[in-house]
Amino acid sequence: MVVDYADKALTQRYQLMAQTIIPRPIAWICTQDAKGTLNIAPFSYFMGLSSEPPTMIVSIGHKSDGSQKDTLKNLRETKKCTVCMVDEAHLEQMHFSSKELDARQSEAEIFGIETKSIIKDFPPIVTGVPSAFFCELYQEIDLKGSKTIPLVVEIKSQYIDDTIITDKEKLTLDYEPLARVGKSYALLGKRVNPPKIP
Ligand SMILES: Cc1cc2nc3c(=O)[nH]c(=O)nc-3n(C[C@H](O)[C@H](O)[C@H](O)COP(=O)(O)O)c2cc1C
Repeated sequence: MVVDYADKALTQRYQLMAQTIIPRPIAWICTQDAKGTLNIAPFSYFMGLSSEPPTMIVSIGHKSDGSQKDTLKNLRETKKCTVCMVDEAHLEQMHFSSKELDARQSEAEIFGIETKSIIKDFPPIVTGVPSAFFCELYQEIDLKGSKTIPLVVEIKSQYIDDTIITDKEKLTLDYEPLARVGKSYALLGKRVNPPKIP
């Protein structure tokens, strides 16, 4: 079967892509508006982009009324975000924080998500996450007038919980991330070593 994307509605394309491009990492993004209201929301159209400059890309859609999502609004306003990586322990809070709220409401307050300030000039991390990236807005990508806005963010520093560091000298890390698979979640499970290329 070959599916012609030109014949498919946006929701059908989303369905197919989200079930096939898997597993996707989840960026649990903390941003603040100019008044300091903390916003927390998950995004799985998300990936590492380059190590020079150290960048990641996250694709942000729009609210049900067509207006910009709070994460995009805040990033445009303050240029800063903290991207938390998610483990299984945070599944429920992360999922709840995807609820569409008014920009003046904070997911942290509504869902009792505890946060902790690590670096003064960046939004806080969610308490207990294995790692988080402190990022600045680097570039907005224009998908030729699409309502989806891919944002490139530059990593300035990374928080790493001591418990996931297996070798401090070599900066070796080990943790079990929660991934997005279709509309479900998954853990990575078995890892396979690469074969030696002859
Ligand atoms: C696991 C997960 C992944 C998501 N990924 C995306 C995404 O990549 N892009 C997007 O626009 N919305 C995504 N969403 C929906 C947003 O989290 C949701 O629209 C949220 O209300 C946005 O919040 P904000 O307006 O506070 O930024 C995802 C939701 C979940 C639960």
